[in-house]
Parts: sequence; C-alpha cells; structure tokens
Amino acid sequence: MEAVTPREVSVQDEAVDKSTFKKCNQIAFYRRQKLLHPGKSSYRALLESVTLSDENVKFQIIHEENKVLLQVEICEIEGNIFRLKIDEASPLRARYKVRDVLIKEPTTQRLFISQNEGGILVLSSVNEDYKLQVIANPFQVELQSKGETILSMNSNGLLYFEHLQPKPTAENEEAASDSSKETQEDLGLWQEKFGSFLDIKAHGPSSVGVDFSLRGYDHVYGIPQHTEGLLLKNTSDGDAYRLYNLDIFGHKIHDKIGIYGSVPLLLAHKPNRTSGIFWLNSSETLVDISTKAVHGLSGSAAETAKQKAVPLTDVRWMSESGIIDVFLLMGPTAFDVFKQFAQLTGTQALPPLFSLGYHQCRWNYEDEQDVKAVDAGFDEHDIPYDVIWLDIEHTDGKRYFTWDKKKFQNPRKMQEHLRKKKRKLVIIVDPHIKVDPKYTLYSQAKDKGYFVKDRNGQDFEGICWPGSSCYLDFTNPEVRKWYADQFAFKTYKGSTNILFVWNDMNEPSVFKGAELTMQKDAVHYNNWEHREVHNLYGFYQQMATAEGLIKRSSGKERPFVLTRSFFAGSQKYGAVWTGDNTADWSYLKISIPMLLTNSMAGISFCGADVGGFIGDPEPELLVRWYQAGAYQPFFRGHSNMESKRREPWLFGEKNTQIIREAIKERYVLLPYLYTLFYRAHTAAEPVMRPLWVEFPGNIETFGVENEYMLGKSSFLSFDKSYPFSYLCSKLNFYDQRIRTILPWLCFLQIPVFQRGGTVIPLKTTAGKSTEWMVDTSYELHVALDTEASAIGELYLDDGHSFQYLHKKQFLYRKFTFHKSILSSRDESGQYQTMCVVERVIVLGFGHQPTFVTACSKDGKEKEVVFTYDTKTSALTLENLALSLAADWKICVN
Ligand code: NOJ
Repeated sequence: MEAVTPREVSVQDEAVDKSTFKKCNQIAFYRRQKLLHPGKSSYRALLESVTLSDENVKFQIIHEENKVLLQVEICEIEGNIFRLKIDEASPLRARYKVRDVLIKEPTTQRLFISQNEGGILVLSSVNEDYKLQVIANPFQVELQSKGETILSMNSNGLLYFEHLQPKPTAENEEAASDSSKETQEDLGLWQEKFGSFLDIKAHGPSSVGVDFSLRGYDHVYGIPQHTEGLLLKNTSDGDAYRLYNLDIFGHKIHDKIGIYGSVPLLLAHKPNRTSGIFWLNSSETLVDISTKAVHGLSGSAAETAKQKAVPLTDVRWMSESGIIDVFLLMGPTAFDVFKQFAQLTGTQALPPLFSLGYHQCRWNYEDEQDVKAVDAGFDEHDIPYDVIWLDIEHTDGKRYFTWDKKKFQNPRKMQEHLRKKKRKLVIIVDPHIKVDPKYTLYSQAKDKGYFVKDRNGQDFEGICWPGSSCYLDFTNPEVRKWYADQFAFKTYKGSTNILFVWNDMNEPSVFKGAELTMQKDAVHYNNWEHREVHNLYGFYQQMATAEGLIKRSSGKERPFVLTRSFFAGSQKYGAVWTGDNTADWSYLKISIPMLLTNSMAGISFCGADVGGFIGDPEPELLVRWYQAGAYQPFFRGHSNMESKRREPWLFGEKNTQIIREAIKERYVLLPYLYTLFYRAHTAAEPVMRPLWVEFPGNIETFGVENEYMLGKSSFLSFDKSYPFSYLCSKLNFYDQRIRTILPWLCFLQIPVFQRGGTVIPLKTTAGKSTEWMVDTSYELHVALDTEASAIGELYLDDGHSFQYLHKKQFLYRKFTFHKSILSSRDESGQYQTMCVVERVIVLGFGHQPTFVTACSKDGKEKEVVFTYDTKTSALTLENLALSLAADWKICVN
C-alpha cells in the first residue's frame, strides 16, 4: 500500500468524531467496577496470616463471597513512602507487573508490629512518625502521621479484584440462556465490542481497583494528560479521568479523555501538607474524584455537632488489568512529594543546552533549499534559534531512518551547513514500520520477530503514515537494543552528530484501529497482551531512542528526544509536548495548566506547539503565544501541513519585532533556565510550578492556573487580578524586565516579576543560537526582600556532554546579598570558563550609595561605576568584568 497523504488523513479527521473514542460507560471494566457501590467491603483481612520480614509485612485477605484469597504486601520505603501491593495469592497465571519504570527496587525499611489483636493490626515506621492501621473486617488500611489520619484505603469498600479464571467451556456457554449471554456481552468479560472492533480477552476479566480517602484535602492535582484545568474536578458517573494514551487530532479542551500520555500520579494539598498517590499500572486506568465536606470524622455525636465540616477527597482508581501496586508519597511538602516520586521513577534528564533554545518546526520543511532559506531567514531578521525540524515528509515514503532522495539529496551537507551556523537538526522517527520487504528495517525486524503480534500470532498490521505498517515491540529489551543501534552513524546514513530525534505517533497511533490505537488483544514480548502495556509503548520507544543517541556518541553526549506519548518516568529520556493543539486562544490558555500538571508529574521538559498546530493563528495570537512559550520549558513553533507558513517574520515588521524580543528574552534567560533544569535533574524540583507549590500556606493560590512560577524566582501572570495583587502586597515583587520602557500594564508583554529575596543570572545579550553565546557575559538581577537580602545560584557546564556527571566538570555558584554585600562563591564542581559577570542590578535598594567596591579572592579591590534610580530604587553596577568562575565580593557603601 502506498503512503497515506495528508489529504487522505480523513481517518484522522474522523478522530474529531466523538464516536471514534469510547465514553467511560462504553468501557466494560469500568461498567463492571461501577456495579460495586460505596459501602461495606466484601474483603476481610486474615490477620492471623501476618508475616513480617526486613522488607515487608504480608498477610492475606479473603473475599467473603467467592472465597478467593489475595495477598497484601506492605512496605515502607526510605523517605516517607509506603508501598501497598495486592495480587492474587495463587493466580491461574502470573499477572502483569510493570517493569522498567522504577529506577531500582526501592530500599525498604523495617516496619514494626505494634498491635495485632481485636481485628486490628498496627504497623509503625522506624521513627514512629507513621502508623499504618489495618482493620480486618471490613478490610481497610489507614495511614496516620503523628496521630493524624492522612488517608485511608478501601474505606468506601471499593476494593475490586477480578481473579483470573479458566475460560468457560463451550458447553457451559451453550447452557447459558440467551439473556445471560447478553449480560455477559454487556459486561465484556471474555470479549468486548466497540463499533466494528472486537477485543478478544484471552485471559478473561482481570480488572483491579480501590478507593482512597484523603482527609482534610480538597485540592487535588496531577494524573496528566488531559486538556483540563489545574485542579482536578469532581467526576460524575461516566465522566472519570481516563488514562489511556490516544492520538486525538483536534482534541477538544476541558475533556477528561486521555491524550497521548499518562502519569498515574495524583497530588493532594491542604495548607502546609502535600501527599501523593502513585498508582503503578500501565493498563487503561480510570480515576473518579469526589471532594466533599464531612462532619465528624471521629469523636462523639456532641463533638461532631460542634465540629466544623472537614473536606475529604475520595479517589477511586480502576485499571483494566495488572495488579494493585500503589505508592503513598507522604511529603509532607510538595517538594518532598516531587523528590519521592523521582526517587522511584528518576529525575528529569539534563537537557543539552541547545534544546532549551528556540525550535523551528513545520510539517514540513520541504527540502534542503527550504531548510537553508528558513535558517537564513532567522539571521536576516535577527531572531535567535537553535534547531530546525524535519517532519515525516523528509523520508523516502515514510520509511524512517531514510531520506527522500529528491528533496534531501545531500543531508550530510545540509547538516554541515547548519553546524557551521552553530545550529542543530531534529528529524522525526515514528514507531510504525512500513510493510515493504525491500526496506531493510522492515525485513530485519520481520526476520528477527521484532514486531508486535496479533492474537493469531501473525505480525500485527495497521495503517499509519506509510500505509500498511507493523509496530516494533519496544517492550522487548532485545528490540530496544537493536533499535538503539539503528542510530549509529554508520547505520543511519546521512545522519551526523547534530541530528537529534522526535518520536511521534507512539501511543501507538493506528489509523482505522479501535480508538485509533492498537488492538488490546495484540501480543507483546513474553506473551503479554497489549492491554497490559498500552500506556508504556511510547515510554519504551523514547527509552530506546535516547539510548541509541547516547550509544552513537560512545556514551559521551547527552541525547535530545521529544516524545508525544509518555508514562511515569519518561522524564529520564527527554522532552514531551502536548500534541496537536489548535490555533485558538483557548488552547494557549489551557497550555499553562497542562504544562504545570506534566511538570508536577515529574516531566519538567514539556511544551505546547507555539501558535497552535491546527489552523492559522491571527497575528496577535501568534505573538502572544511566542511571548508565553518563551517562558515555558520546551519552546517550539510548529504547524500542520494544511496551515499557512508562519515563520516569525511573515506577519509584518511590528509583529516580527515583538516575536524577536520574546525569543531574545528567552535566550537572555537561559542561564537561569539551565540552572532550573539542573535543579530538576538533581533535586526533582519542577522548572515550571504552580503558585501553591511556592506558597503552600496561601489558600488563595491553590486554584490559580493563569499565573505560575518559573523556579522560585520568576513569577508570570496572564491575569492582573487577584491573587497577583495579593502576592505583591505580601511579598516584594519586581518587574523582571527592568530595562523595558514599556510599562507592562499596556500589555505589550506578558508581565514577568522577580520575587524579592532572589538573584537571577542572565546573559547580557542574546546571540544567534546558544552556541554563539558561550562567551557572552552575564548579568545578575538581585531583587531584595523586606530584609534587604537575596540569594540565588548559577549552574554552568559544557552544555552537551556527560562530563558534569563523570568528571564533575561544572560550575555551581551561589550568590548572596546580605548587609549590602553581594558575594559569589563556589558551591561545588569545577569548570573552566572565561566568562565574566559584567553587570549587576540591585532592585529595591533603599538609598543612594556613596561608593561601591569589588574585591576578588586575592584581595584586589577596585571601584565600581554605578547609577542609582531614586524613582525605582534600582542600583545598577556596570563594567564589572568579574570572573564567573572565581569568588568575589561587591560592597555597597
Ligand atoms: C502528529 C504530530 O502530533 C504532529 O506534530 C506531526 O506534525 C504530525 N503527526 C506529522 O508527523
């Protein structure tokens, strides 16, 4: 079959058609689980079966009606984490357990049994801060911290576990009456229909689920990815948050259907306490949320009457398959929860510096001439950029790892041209492989048996861009190794070390497939059905790609891989974007909560297509989007094939100028941004973060999604109303663009403020790309708090290798302003740089100084030229030429 042309993409257009995708009540396991209503659980714990080891506590629970035994395992993991696992005690066959997501088997701590009588088992943590109370009948687990109940599991009795059963024999089936057959079909136990699709369940029903009640919490966040607001909403029947990776072209906003990626991590926050629930399951998952106020969670009736209503959030997790494996992240701060999640799934990979610059993408840049012309356009219009991207049309008939010989006759030469310009190239590599025996990748994979199989054991075939395609089984480690090897320079002809990779369509997208994805009854490595691993498919592709890029450099260079589909832990492999958004203001607006949610779920390196992928943005929208994107972690302009060209200079001189300013602002900000990424990499602090994370005691900030913090110093507002004014009245905030003449109120720029008490490192000017800026001098913005103090830091390394890790070749400087002395001191690491700090601006300095001196470590002192603006209280120190790598002090007298 020939390649699918964009005009034929009507398959995709259908995707907008609601009937292509399931509503919750069209999902059989959801319907089955929903038959269980809140109430008394049918499970009873057999506390006499308790065994205790250094690693865990184990006991069994029994279902009072079917008498099936489940094995419960509880352990405490170093750093305030508890893990609860529930599996069948003696399953018919092993149930799927997620692999490769946890970075290592977590280090457990011994729990102590402090009580096991009267139907109650009490487990205490080593430091006695936490107690787990297991109530036998009905089975329930409560987690308490210093006497306060944080959460309970199965208190609504919604523990649900379908044990594996032998398939009913034909005779049994025949014996069933017609009407019960109908019910069977309704319940979708052994097969499930959706439109013309039939999912045959080789192992029958295997769904699991349970409820958690979060005491005192009425603000919950997380479980990306949905086109929803920051705060999770209450769900009603049939409207659960769906975690099922799907390719939804033209997805609508404010929808709980799963798009592209899933991270089953939920965060709950109340003033000064944050907790998390990480549900480690890669099959389709639905989450019901219900927040309410309840009276008298404990105590007598009289006390209850006096008590104020306490908020309570119930969260019900329901997965199609696998086991219950849940991590309770006890915080107590949001940053602790981020660390706990990273301890389990890894931190954000440190991006190569170029990838924090601006990326120019389009479906498609047509040919080598087009690439060169666009590249030249940036120079002509004095707009910095780092990377130009090639979409699927650059290949020979959508055969990835090849080039269209007419349009890209000499890809190496084209890359050499870009290299000279100190720029990079990103090309797309999708997971589907064109069925074509003459295509080496296909024939090799076919011969080696590397494709996902259908239920009959044949290679699964579906339609995607190249027409008939097979799908590599990335869950197989051998396939991942083979795939990684495809990126070797000698294998991937025409590739050079300035070429990086974009993994798209990896939900996986299967045109004309059920919900435009792979049949759940397709079969993977080790005979696992696709239903078990669906949400991990993209995760594994990105993992293999990142490994390939590292390998091709013999382990020396950091990779850059953008993926559309993701799972918990994808942060280790690169960046994520939010997929096919639309050129409409509402999509610009929703990009902020979507990116904040991804960031809280560990994925700091995320962005949304600037301008909106589908359609043509009006110039003002495009300009605004650039201004917003410049302050988002991954910054890429991208557009659909059908949309008009939209390089930044095509909208008149005035708009070009504003876009130029926005992109330059991004480049000047890079030292700060790179430092934030280092913090994300080493300390799991999200680069982009909601206000509540920084102001955990201010309830006014808990629902804010049109303002956010970039690190702890920069505050962006897309709304000039409350709580911005609230924060500003309580804390010192300064206009971050000190030197802009235009007051932000006239709204030519998005307001950006620097928080008092912080120091932000910047470059003095933007260059043509990050590589052009290596030697550019630095500028420090010192914003004083009410105590006239500030602190900040700067991370710097070579921007591309792993030397920071293996050889400690980096600079980590700490800046402190205290008692009118600004000092720069070395925190750790070592790195040679000739760069200097050229300028310092102190904001909120109370008086006109008489003189200012700078002294270096060797005692040399020099007088500093300064200006003081009495109107703005800004003190500017110029021509400093202080070495970035050395310790120094500036004394303001
Ligand atoms: C879908 C992706 O979301 C989009 O960004 C890309 O341009 C097209 N696939 C074509 O590869």
